[in-house]
Parts: sequence; C-alpha cells; structure tokens
Amino acid sequence: MSDLVLASLHHLIVFGLAAVLAAELALMRPAAMSPGTVRLLGRFDAAYGMLSLAILAVGGVRVWHGAKGADFYLQNPMFWAKIAAFGAVGLLSIRPTMRIAAWQKALKADAAFVPQQEDVGKLRRIMLAEVHVFALIPIFAAAMARGVGFS
Ligand code: HEM
Repeated sequence: MSDLVLASLHHLIVFGLAAVLAAELALMRPAAMSPGTVRLLGRFDAAYGMLSLAILAVGGVRVWHGAKGADFYLQNPMFWAKIAAFGAVGLLSIRPTMRIAAWQKALKADAAFVPQQEDVGKLRRIMLAEVHVFALIPIFAAAMARGVGFS
C-alpha cells in the first residue's frame, strides 16, 4: 500500500515539475516580457524549487523503503543515469533561478522593470537544454524499473 502511495505521489510531482517547466519556458520569451510576466516567473520558479526537493525526498523514500529494496536501485546503472540526468537538470537550472530571483529584486525597486531581451534569450536557451535533459529522466526510470542493466 505505501508503495502505491509513494508511486502515486512520485508521478504527481513529476507531472507538476513538467508543467511548471513548460509554463516557465512559455513565459521566458525575449519579446514578450512585462512586469507581470517577471512576477509570474518568480512564482513558478519557487514552485519548481519546492517540487524538485519533493521529488528528491519521495524518490529517496522509494529507493530505501520501496517494494524492491535499495540494492535493486543502487546496483543499477540506469538508476545512476537517472540521478545524473536529474543532477544535470539541477545544475542547468541554477543560472535561470539566480537571474529570476535578481529580477524579483529589481521589480521591487522599480515596478516597471523588464529584463533585457539578451538576458531573457540566454535563459531561454538554457531552459530548452533543461527540458531536453529532463526528457531523458522518465526513459532511464522506465529502464531502471524493469531492471535493465541490473546484475
Ligand atoms: C524529475 C525527476 C524524476 C522523474 C521525471 C522521475 C520519473 C519516474 C518515472 C516515470 C517512474 C516510473 C517508472 C516505471 O515504473 O516505469 C519513476 C520511478 C521511480 N523513481 Fe523517479 N523520477 C524522478 C526523480 C527521482 C529521484 C530523484 C529518485 C531517487 C532519489 C527517484 C526514484 C524512483 C524510484 C525508486 C522509482 C520506482 C521504480 C520501480 O518501480 O522500481 N526518482 N520515476
């Protein structure tokens, strides 16, 4: 039963992450920035941070208290490939998060603040890379769950 609850939570958080990432990417357009968009990006990015911590916590509990036992995952290269992809997404998200936080500060000082188009374009490219690496995670997850590479 707890495995079912953990698996359900895991999926809900994963869909939440994908939705927030897609929303941020849709908002991150150089020619369409407004103070309202900057504020929304701040809210979505905070949600993204919280969901990332939540997936790490729920994923960790699944590894150590899931139905298959920790060894099934820890000795599986697909698990580590998945964690590496998750880590890469995390690293890629550092710069966008820092810039979005700086924009929130700028917005507090000047209610009409909009970021420079060049800055927005750079972050968009980073977020596109993030989406592509993110797409690898469920592929590794499906292989991992089926014991591909497990010895
Ligand atoms: C954005 C991050 C993540 C995504 C997109 C993701 C995606 C998935 C998906 C789609 C499955 C179902 C696989 C299947 O049954 O075919 C799954 C299962 C699982 N994930 Fe994640 N996951 C993420 C993060 C994590 C993290 C950080 C951990 C561990 C620290 C983790 C541990 C697990 C475990 C233990 C399972 C159960 C596999 C099984 O049924 O044997 N996940 N994940």
